[in-house]
Amino acid sequence: MNENILTIKDGRTEKTYSLPVERGTIRAIDLRQIKEDAEDFGLMTYDPAFMNTASCRSSITFIDGDRGILRYRGYPIEELAEKCTFLEVAYLVLNGELPSEKQLADWVYEVKHHTMLHETTKKFLEGFRYDAHPMGMLVSTVAALSTVYPEARNVLDPQVRRHQIARLIGKMPTIAAYTYRHSLGLPYVYPDNDLGYTANFMNMLWKMVEPKYAADPVLARALSILFILHADHEQNCSTNAMRAVGSSQADPFVSVAAAAAALSGPLHGGANEQVLRMLDAIGTTENIPSYIEQVKAGKLKLMGFGHRVYKNYDPRARIIKWTAEQVFQVTGRNPKLDIALALEKIALEDEYFVKRKLYPNVDFYSGIIYQAMGFKPDMFTVLFAIPRTVGWLAHWDELMRDPEQKIARPRQVYTGADVRHLPAEKPKILVGSAV
Ligand code: SDX
Repeated sequence: MNENILTIKDGRTEKTYSLPVERGTIRAIDLRQIKEDAEDFGLMTYDPAFMNTASCRSSITFIDGDRGILRYRGYPIEELAEKCTFLEVAYLVLNGELPSEKQLADWVYEVKHHTMLHETTKKFLEGFRYDAHPMGMLVSTVAALSTVYPEARNVLDPQVRRHQIARLIGKMPTIAAYTYRHSLGLPYVYPDNDLGYTANFMNMLWKMVEPKYAADPVLARALSILFILHADHEQNCSTNAMRAVGSSQADPFVSVAAAAAALSGPLHGGANEQVLRMLDAIGTTENIPSYIEQVKAGKLKLMGFGHRVYKNYDPRARIIKWTAEQVFQVTGRNPKLDIALALEKIALEDEYFVKRKLYPNVDFYSGIIYQAMGFKPDMFTVLFAIPRTVGWLAHWDELMRDPEQKIARPRQVYTGADVRHLPAEKPKILVGSAV
């Protein structure tokens, strides 16, 4: 018996088909041979929101949603968060192996020498209203970088790809910090290459008139851990957007802008901001039961809960909870943590959430830390976009190297009107007539 064959019998024609099974999948294109008659287009799969469709083969990130497992290139996220720096993990996610000491030194030097923005890009940012949402500014400014680096369109050249990858990883914190400073009417702070990746980000955010910014090492490390946790997550919505736009051979700047736009949605990376707004709306632990009842009535979502893949505790949420305690030793405890912990306890004991396997995801606790660090809620998704740029670029590079990939162009099931004609009496439009 050949166990790697799926045998399908078409009841419409009594014909039988044998489809090869590879890595737990059948190729959708193999279904096209299944026809009712010679005129038939053949079978397709119908899979709204890609609930059960693999769009690619990838060796970057592995998730086991039932067991709450997350690994980058085979390394458990818990070990990476505990023993690596963010740029070390970025190198791993992008290249497939952890860097040697020299490789890491060269990589850090390369990223650090791409942190500056072209002065015209700073002026571009100044055009936004003072109250513009930072994600809107970030998405627009990242797209604008494609006008500064036109050579980035040579996406088939690996060296060109690598150069833009370093540029984007270097510049994302700078753009993010500038959106924050713009919202406060503060002058931009230039990067300081003496500082590490997250310490320099803090420098560009919070340096005032002191000659040299001194980042609190606990907060710098906490941000580094948070960035590691957010670096990649296989085929999430924004990475899917990155792959779709990148598949047309668009340059990486507009592709990352498209991915960041997808991330901004409240069901995806925008959830961390919505969690804080939800905790503010709940106000006190006494109000939790009535809020939960509204969620169970379908009137509200419990933001920061649930996941398409994880049907167990999101391993990142567990690490974030631990990191929160480290941060609070410096910033003081964020009282919203008490509401979040009570909310989690009640939800995890309630049949509605248990039955639907809804657990806290990466966004449930991250905002509480960010707020304790001094970030406003509208900056939270920007803090997600900075590290996720690594994942988007790793998947983009993998896509560009994958011989099986071509421009993404799904099919559809047409449900519209059959052919019909305009009224015979309707006159033709003649050239020159008013339109
Ligand atoms: C991220 O994909 C990724 O990997 C994303 C991410 C990453 O690293 O890239 O992990 C980051 O985006 C995390 C998710 C952040 N979003 C939120 O916290 C928003 C709240 N969560 C939900 O909107 C929802 O859980 C999703 C969007 C995350 C997942 O949605 P699915 O997989 O489409 O599930 P669903 O909406 O079909 O829900 C199944 C059931 C439904 O109930 P029934 O219709 O069966 O009665 O669970 C319910 C939903 O109503 N449900 C929730 C809920 N999430 C799902 N009910 C209340 N509150 C929620 N949060």
